[in-house]
Amino acid sequence: MTLIRTHTCGELTRKHTGETVTLNGWVNTRRDLGGVIFIDLRDRYGITQVVFSPQDDEEAHTTADQLRSEYVIGVQGEIRERDPVNVNPNIKTGEIELRVKKLVIYSRSETPPFEIQDDLKTNEDLRLKYRYLDLRRPVMQQNLMLRSALYRHTRSYFHEHQFAEIETPFLMRSTPEGARDYLVPSRVNPGKFYALPQSPQTYKQILMVSGMDRYFQIVKCFRDEDLRADRQPEFTQIDVEMSFVDEEQVYTLMEGLLQTILKEVVGAEVITPFPRMTYREAITSYGSDKPDTRFDMKFVDFSDIVKDSEFRVFSKTVADGGAVVGFVVPGMGSLGRGVMDRLTKRTRDEIGAGGLIYIKNNEEELYSSVSKFVPEEMTRLMVEASGAEKGDLILLLAGPKDAVYHQLGDLRLLMAKEYDLIDTSKYNLLWVTDFPLLEYDSDDGRYYAMHHPFTSPREEDLEMLKTDPGRVRARAYDLVMNGSEIGGGSIRIHDSELQSLMFEALGIGKEEAQQKFGFLLDAFTFGAPPHGGIALGLDRIAMLLTGAKSLRDVIAFPKNQRAISLMDNCPDVVDQAQLEELHIRLAPLPGSK
Ligand code: AMO
Repeated sequence: MTLIRTHTCGELTRKHTGETVTLNGWVNTRRDLGGVIFIDLRDRYGITQVVFSPQDDEEAHTTADQLRSEYVIGVQGEIRERDPVNVNPNIKTGEIELRVKKLVIYSRSETPPFEIQDDLKTNEDLRLKYRYLDLRRPVMQQNLMLRSALYRHTRSYFHEHQFAEIETPFLMRSTPEGARDYLVPSRVNPGKFYALPQSPQTYKQILMVSGMDRYFQIVKCFRDEDLRADRQPEFTQIDVEMSFVDEEQVYTLMEGLLQTILKEVVGAEVITPFPRMTYREAITSYGSDKPDTRFDMKFVDFSDIVKDSEFRVFSKTVADGGAVVGFVVPGMGSLGRGVMDRLTKRTRDEIGAGGLIYIKNNEEELYSSVSKFVPEEMTRLMVEASGAEKGDLILLLAGPKDAVYHQLGDLRLLMAKEYDLIDTSKYNLLWVTDFPLLEYDSDDGRYYAMHHPFTSPREEDLEMLKTDPGRVRARAYDLVMNGSEIGGGSIRIHDSELQSLMFEALGIGKEEAQQKFGFLLDAFTFGAPPHGGIALGLDRIAMLLTGAKSLRDVIAFPKNQRAISLMDNCPDVVDQAQLEELHIRLAPLPGSK
């Protein structure tokens, strides 16, 4: 028999005193006190104290003796106020308890492999194997509820702005987004494969050619790439495309979305328009194309000051076209020798820099770790240029430009985290613009599209596409929040000829282009509107809004670092018969004889 609940475990208060109610839920904890049994009953909404005493009901009290953690029960009884000493002001139901007259045990539970509580210190693999238990923890339920709110507010925002929600296929031909495809064999077309979408990029562009004007979709994407805390092989995008727009319309629309989401989901206010920064500035000032601007520590280039130094590390680096760059860490001038030695070691081991040079700009002394080689006068000039105040520390790296900026970017983040220099109450949003169109891969000896091959070059740079492709800027933009790339998009090419030219620049021959993207090139010959769009990473936004450390904590059933789902153990081998039906024969597996 199911005792149909009248309330949830999160809503009863003093005003319900005297009412007879029914609750359903899981036994969270049990305490026995002087013959009376106290249960904390838990459901998604909260916890209610439930009391079994022989005075209230003999039978229920006797049955309650069997109750253990995670048993699922129904209880009926009367709401009473708790004794003042037992009031728990931290929870909504903390002033009342339910005195049970009737108990039904719906199901029993084995002892769980870990406790159902928020501050859990078990290893993550165990949590993933017993994901249903992990998801009973209030923190995980709150994460999923926040995610659910994200869907809701996103959908209503786009519907309010005249967007059509359109599903695109999961079985498609591969679209290049830079990762490997997950392939799906076709049984009825032997030897042929679908690819799961890395993104619905080509479909959404075709929808613009179809005249759908404004499209959005909350959509799963699949990428077979190396996993990190902020990457999952299947993840969710808020995917958007618009006709007859330039960058400004995309920015305005997305700023409105982020403003709505932050307000509705976490009650945070953000100011629009968001700041913008060119890719170049992001790299030269923060050493990252997704700078965390919640703290300052911008780079200062000291190359000019030190280029004639007798210290070879300085002068030779600059002469070789490299740079000597650094940043100020406020108030850290007093870090001791041991700490600085350890930091130097970490800079070498974890960040890959050749070494770390530092200056402590203290009241009583100006200390430089290279004072033996660099005259104090030069050090003073550097301090001046850096804007360091008394008591500040300056960290410097010297080396080839690209490497030095990136290493210094990593060092900047390391210092900010290590010394708690980040204001975590902030939501800093930023557009990064003017990305290069192409990236040269020296291993492959060819260019790759930095965003994707459908991104439009800047008109004024078009001439260089044939002569100096590396310098062409793209009409591409990324949206960055608190140092995470939460979205990326571009204004697209909508001209068949320009698209062909782009394929050429990417080393994709006419025939291959026709074979892979003929449908898109053809579509562009039948009247394509100018269009552009963006996709946001919904999981990453959920991660940032919940404060979770990993995407796995905001996805109900994620894969682990080895792309395995431990709960249902997939991927797994399949029957020989299944393979035969698909005309697939396995090559010897790595490690087998
Ligand atoms: P892009 O490849 O930049 O653009 O992806 C858009 C956003 O999706 C998120 N993201 C991921 N999140 C979790 N796990 C992953 N493996 C993963 N990969 C990407 C990021 C990223 O900013 N079609 C284009 C969009 C467009 O041009 O409109 C695209 O997919 O937050």
